[in-house]
Amino acid sequence: MYQERKINDDLYWVGANDRRLSVFEGVFAIPRGVSYNSYLLFDEKTVLMDTVDRAVQGVFFENIEHLLKEKDCTLDYIIVHHIEPDHCAALPELILRFPEVKIIGNALTIKIIKQFFDFDVESRALIVKEGDTMSFGKHSFTFYMAPMVHWPEVMISYDSASQILFSADAFGSFGAINGNLFADEVDFEHEWLPDARRYYANIVGKYGVQVQAVHKKLVNLKISMICPLHGPIWRENIPWYIEKYHLWSTYTPEETAVMIAFASVYGDTANTADILAGKLAEKGIKNIAMYDVSVTDSSQIVAEAFRCSHLVFASTTYNMGIFIKMEETLLDLQKHNLQNRDIALIENGSWAPTSGSLMKKLFDELKDIRYIAPTLTLHSALKESQLAELEALATTIAESIKQSRAKSFNHE
Ligand code: FEO
Repeated sequence: MYQERKINDDLYWVGANDRRLSVFEGVFAIPRGVSYNSYLLFDEKTVLMDTVDRAVQGVFFENIEHLLKEKDCTLDYIIVHHIEPDHCAALPELILRFPEVKIIGNALTIKIIKQFFDFDVESRALIVKEGDTMSFGKHSFTFYMAPMVHWPEVMISYDSASQILFSADAFGSFGAINGNLFADEVDFEHEWLPDARRYYANIVGKYGVQVQAVHKKLVNLKISMICPLHGPIWRENIPWYIEKYHLWSTYTPEETAVMIAFASVYGDTANTADILAGKLAEKGIKNIAMYDVSVTDSSQIVAEAFRCSHLVFASTTYNMGIFIKMEETLLDLQKHNLQNRDIALIENGSWAPTSGSLMKKLFDELKDIRYIAPTLTLHSALKESQLAELEALATTIAESIKQSRAKSFNHE
């Protein structure tokens, strides 16, 4: 049964949700599910914006076929903003059902469609490039290339009649749409922002420069609505969300806050991390985030590292290296190009502690990393004799946070 939603008189959401998939793209835990958004425009021509993942294509086809029947239309065009299979896996089936449909994409889109599929793409392809405009009646779309946000062929489009931006993966979020299609219908800041941040940091966090390039193209557009390929649609408070993207893509900490991530085999490194957190709290630091990397999806730590200004990593030494779960997490952070953070390290090792120097080596490859204190070295467990050292580390971190807050307050 169809479940499409009306956005305005001409535009419908025809996507679908998946709440059964536990790992998106084979890597990111999605306990709140995910939506695959697709949009259908009715004008002199009928235009579909993207398709959905194969897993949910049944309801997607029910949606579009129901609407086309109701309005006595056929499908004229599909715009492929992004050829990644979570948005184009239903394309071959679409071509079977609507053989006359024309495919609008850029040259790279068309090339990659041919790599994925065997149907006749060439005879249906309409190639657009940066700044091209196509009219479908009263709605006229302008296309802007958005390479590497998230794949190289990504493009976004702007409908000047309705001032709607179809933003592809940009401004998307993990999380299924639970009836409320619009971001202003949910408590986005508290219920959705952590997943939107996690989506940004892990999907496009590496490509801040490219996100900034797209940001510049949008500056002069009057945007009434943002329709992304995942998560809620934006029609209110749009500058607030764009500002989040600006912070994330410039690797500016979203908050002056501390995250402590630890790896502990028998609990001694964890104990030290807990004592440090307690000392920070006693020094007035609030909202301390703490994660055991052994039981935390690394996408969560990547997201929190994009949020927080101060990061503490505490790891035991294992096989003469960084404990494997911490090493995986730090490599993930490194691959996502994290920059501009204040860092403190704690290492543990019963006979040859090396995790501190190895963690530092990983961070040394990132830009604008500041080590705010010498690495604290534990030998098996924290002893009374090292409490003063831990106290000094807590004081340094707390002072650094307070100075950062004072600096940002003075710049407001
Ligand atoms: Fe939602 Fe890059 O695909």
